Amino acid sequence: MSDIAKLQIGENSFEFPLIKGTENEVAIDVKSLRNATNGIITIDPGFKNTGSCESAITFLDGEKGILRYRGYPIEQLAEKADFLEVSYALIFGDLPNKEQLDKFHSDIKAHSLVDDDVRKILEAFPKTAHPMGVLSSLTSALTAFNPISVNIESREDMYNAIVRILAKFPVLVGWTMRKKKGLHLNYGKKSLGYVENIMYMMFKEPNEDFQVNPVIKNALDKLLILHADHEQNCSTSTVRIVGSSHAGLFASLSAGISALWGPLHGGANQAVLEMLEAIKADGGDTKKYMAKAKDKNDPFRLMGFGHRVYKNFDPRAKIIKVAADEVLNDLGVEDPILNIARGLEQEALNDPYFVERKLYPNVDFYSGIIYRAMGIPVDMFTVMFALGRLPGWIAQWKEMRLNKEPIGRPRQIYIGENIRPFVDIDKR
Ligand code: SDX
Repeated sequence: MSDIAKLQIGENSFEFPLIKGTENEVAIDVKSLRNATNGIITIDPGFKNTGSCESAITFLDGEKGILRYRGYPIEQLAEKADFLEVSYALIFGDLPNKEQLDKFHSDIKAHSLVDDDVRKILEAFPKTAHPMGVLSSLTSALTAFNPISVNIESREDMYNAIVRILAKFPVLVGWTMRKKKGLHLNYGKKSLGYVENIMYMMFKEPNEDFQVNPVIKNALDKLLILHADHEQNCSTSTVRIVGSSHAGLFASLSAGISALWGPLHGGANQAVLEMLEAIKADGGDTKKYMAKAKDKNDPFRLMGFGHRVYKNFDPRAKIIKVAADEVLNDLGVEDPILNIARGLEQEALNDPYFVERKLYPNVDFYSGIIYRAMGIPVDMFTVMFALGRLPGWIAQWKEMRLNKEPIGRPRQIYIGENIRPFVDIDKR
């Protein structure tokens, strides 16, 4: 293939360079398009065909169902790594050695207190507040308590901001869940591992000792790893574009949490459980819901199915489906919802509407079944997604700032009124 793209507009022809990535993906570099064509731009709602950046963090191939963080295959990371190791690799580029990992963890522990005034902000929320709204607010509030915005020229400054948010975010997640459950807020224990500590902050009951359940710990490690990054998805693009204005890291993350909340994105894991519950309440009538999903006049979609990029199985869904079986068996949990999910999956995988559109189960389809087996409330499921995605958001924000990328400011095609004179109100 030549290394240029030719564009013919009327009598004029233009050439644009092709960019090729590590895995031979190809992009037309249109940075000079508007100047070269005297004002012509591209338009691509939802950016289905448009790349926003060159990134070295995550590679995925939607046709082949491939996902790698920093070149490491997701299957191997989910099987062999723990969440803190994967967080380090995403943010700093390579899996850490033992010394690096131990220092990373101890630096995180050093910042694991959250100002008590943040607790007072949390207290102002009603128990019924959706945890994603609470978490986004508290994350943004952290800026007030850590006002020095990151000086990206200073490696130390960047590192300190990173370990600070990796330390405090799990506290906010634990507090958000405990507030909802009416439990006193607690801090972690420095003697625990990173994920064990998250469990302690979420599940510790005031009237009994805390024991780490290895089944839950391993499943949580795996789930957090599987959610850790996913290239330029909606919430990550939000973190990057907010950060491109040089807004602070915590403010950018807060925006990403809000973007993730939507039911078409991270909010889907909550919507899947609600859908499965509705099907169960409806006597398990999956055919009715399949028909609704295919009916163009019905806004209902089969939640947990379909993906902007994966036109094959989402590799994460495959891993989570196996884990769901294992966790429920190990915990001795019988959940009829799991059978409904399996039935729905089989129906969809054999239904022409879904097959033609290459709609497969995505990361959100089975994850909620595991979270529920862990005793996590359904409206906390997307918070768990955010907890997993945090290192990915940090890595992407850091890459965007260190690459000194320009402020994100898309163009548009105006389709409104032509020029017209102002009319006084008594003449309208
Ligand atoms: C995540 O981007 C990421 O990487 C996201 C994520 C990550 O890790 O960050 O992977 C996490 O967000 C996973 C997706 C979770 N969302 C859901 O499960 C919600 C249900 N899925 C859909 O809403 C939809 O599939 C999207 C939003 C995920 C993708 O939408 P697209 O790419 O914009 O596709 P589309 O809406 O243009 O759909 C193409 C066709 C349409 O039918 P036609 O107009 O061609 O006839 O497929 C249909 C859609 O109606 N379709 C569905 C469907 N998803 C797509 N029909 C029924 N049920 C569905 N779930």
